[in-house]
Amino acid sequence: MSQKSDSQENAPAVHFDHIAFFGRRLKEYECFFNFSTSDYSNKQILDVAAGTSSFASEASIFGAKVTAIDPCYALDPTAAHTRAKEDFDMVMASIRGKQDYLVKTTFKSLEELAEMRWGATEKFLVDYKAQYQSGRYLAETLPKLSFEDNTFDLALCGHFLFLFSDRLDYAFHRDSLIELCRVARDVRLYPLVGTDTKEYPQLKELRSELLDQGIESRMIDVDYAVIQGSGTLLQLTHK
Ligand SMILES: C[S@@+](CC[C@H](N)C(=O)[O-])C[C@H]1O[C@@H](n2cnc3c(N)ncnc32)[C@H](O)[C@@H]1O
Repeated sequence: MSQKSDSQENAPAVHFDHIAFFGRRLKEYECFFNFSTSDYSNKQILDVAAGTSSFASEASIFGAKVTAIDPCYALDPTAAHTRAKEDFDMVMASIRGKQDYLVKTTFKSLEELAEMRWGATEKFLVDYKAQYQSGRYLAETLPKLSFEDNTFDLALCGHFLFLFSDRLDYAFHRDSLIELCRVARDVRLYPLVGTDTKEYPQLKELRSELLDQGIESRMIDVDYAVIQGSGTLLQLTHK
């Protein structure tokens, strides 16, 4: 993971106007977080910065108890639908201009990728409306969460920390990770690259500071990379 290929070094950064309300499917979560949802039936899972991911909806079919959190869950279902569509269009337009950002062998065309992503969002929007009052979707904002210590067996944070390090600083990353380790026994983060497709530059320093706080970390290669250079996750556990 430490050595970057030439094409990664030269890959142009993608610029997103803001952190998009966007999301992926359970199948992708299982690949990039290196786990099987069926192993988590009756377990408590926290989906952090969950966006419009259909993971919570799909995983509930396997009996997993998923709580999804995102500041955008302050929106009612109609406003969430509008925001999801606007952000979906913004992301697809940004990617379309910078196609070297993506590993092209992982999908046939941008249209196919767009269809897959919008499919996840549609599934999410149906479930968000149905579960709006149930507590499955909660408006929570890192770096501070309202949950008790060790509420969750597993916390998953995809496409938020590290990816948006052009606008979220080191202290935000450190405080968020410590907070996630407070509320969950096993914390997984993916990807470890920014929108420039380069590994988070302060990863070593961050892992060392976490170790000082009693948090062990390990990098695990995964069989998934849609964004260039993104085939690794970070797993955090208490010592
Ligand atoms: C690109 S989406 C990631 C969706 C999903 N986790 C995935 O991997 O497909 C990033 C999400 O981070 C959310 N977000 C932004 N600031 C946040 C914060 N301070 N705490 C938690 N989530 C935040 C955004 O609202 C957005 O929905």
